[in-house]
Amino acid sequence: MKIFLIGFMGSGKTHWGHMLSERLELPFFDLDAVIVKTENKSISDIFTEKGEEYFRYKEKEVMEELVNDHEKFILSCGGGTPCFFNNILFMKKHGKVVWLNTSVEVLKTRLLKERQSRPLVRAIGDAELKSFIVRKLGERKMYYSQADVIVEEENADIHSLLE
Ligand code: S3P
Repeated sequence: MKIFLIGFMGSGKTHWGHMLSERLELPFFDLDAVIVKTENKSISDIFTEKGEEYFRYKEKEVMEELVNDHEKFILSCGGGTPCFFNNILFMKKHGKVVWLNTSVEVLKTRLLKERQSRPLVRAIGDAELKSFIVRKLGERKMYYSQADVIVEEENADIHSLLE
């Protein structure tokens, strides 16, 4: 079984990915972390030095390699992964896609604390962060909502939803 965790930055994909991988005894991969390792550069440096377009190609390529090289896993995707190319269809074809639909307020609180490592929000001030999240989430919902399973993170036990 291949499980793809998708959702906005700060939605808890990495946290839940670790939990699920332990409970379901599946290997865990974090797509951003694999890209950082392959490129030997932080995500911020990749964006700054090579640009977002390069990052999106790399993201697609690394995800496809993981899918081809492994029979089963939990993959925590980047917030933008399902929104570029035909990635969401590719994921649905190869496994189960789970969207962590975390509330704007929770995303805001988390991103206020963890902005530096995320190039898309690094330069956004505290006052603008909420409207950025609302706008970007609005643009991305058409991709996220194609998931096979939708989890309201604050209330749900992902494990029971996957059974
Ligand atoms: C991005 C989310 C990030 C990372 C990159 C772009 C996005 O991953 O892939 O900064 O477009 O939403 P996280 O969702 O793990 O922060």
